[in-house]
Amino acid sequence: MEYKLQTIGLLTSGGDSPGMNAAIRAVTRAAIFNGIKVKAIYRGYKGLISGEIHDFYTQDVSNIIQQGGTILKTARSQEFRSAEGRQTAYNNIKSHGIDALIVIGGDGTFSGARVFAQEYNVPIIGLPGTIDNDLWGTDSTIGYDTALNTIIEAVDKIRDTASSHERLFFIEVMGRDAGFLAVNSALASGAEAAIVPERQTDEDQLDQLIRNGFRKSKNSSIVIVAESEITGGANGLAERMRKEHPEYDVRVTILGHIQRGGRPTAYDRILASRMGVAAIDALIDEQRNIMIGIVNDQIVHVPFTKAIKDDKPLNDSLLGVIQILSI
Ligand code: F6P
Repeated sequence: MEYKLQTIGLLTSGGDSPGMNAAIRAVTRAAIFNGIKVKAIYRGYKGLISGEIHDFYTQDVSNIIQQGGTILKTARSQEFRSAEGRQTAYNNIKSHGIDALIVIGGDGTFSGARVFAQEYNVPIIGLPGTIDNDLWGTDSTIGYDTALNTIIEAVDKIRDTASSHERLFFIEVMGRDAGFLAVNSALASGAEAAIVPERQTDEDQLDQLIRNGFRKSKNSSIVIVAESEITGGANGLAERMRKEHPEYDVRVTILGHIQRGGRPTAYDRILASRMGVAAIDALIDEQRNIMIGIVNDQIVHVPFTKAIKDDKPLNDSLLGVIQILSI
């Protein structure tokens, strides 16, 4: 069958991330530049199933490069997990004349894309949009840099009060089950330690921290904790610390969804713009079922199966650097 690429469908799915709008702009404009029509699909796979599909033009993406969130809205669709849901999605793709899909999201988005691509003959290109940076095959995901900067801004403020009151703060950051945000925000904010799920097989990280004498030269301390059942979260660790060391004045801050919002950094805007153009180039080259990634500043193509394989390595040496610098 001859491959035709006249119209693409574009959606954002899963947790939003700063820079998604810059990616939407880049995909839309690169498509139109190449004579390809764009259909915007609202609310991710949910909107693909319910048929929230509208024509998109270059002016629809004006003035959004600097905005956080996603103008296309996003959702986590249960219905797309069912064969019936995906059949309806396919029917909508056909009835709107969509030849290929570009999906912006994280591992859940790409897992859905992979299954859909196996069942139906629809070329799909993914752009990594998640603050977690947990996709294999890319040095960075769209939104990760902004989230890191949001975290360190908050930690700098907490440090002021921690230091005035001579307190120990456990600050919990997002990442689902990945410690990238925790380790790099700890490094960038001068925290005493990062507690991450990737180290669960090692010696208990809290015991290690205490044994290293994390308070020997300081009266206030910051420990960044990656959210995860494995780490016990900031509340779990604080509770233990209060029991084992009642002499410490312990406080907890859970940064929460503030990490997902805000104006994207220059890095995320540039990354999103480059990746958006690369996604259209990939479709024109008849690539399918890949995620666009960036490695050593070069655009790469990563099969969905690899991108979602759940074992993107955390650079262990960074934990060593944090320890050295926290004496
Ligand atoms: O995947 C992005 C993320 O922000 C994770 O870091 C976090 O665990 C999760 O989404 C929170 O999801 P929700 O917004 O549905 O609470």
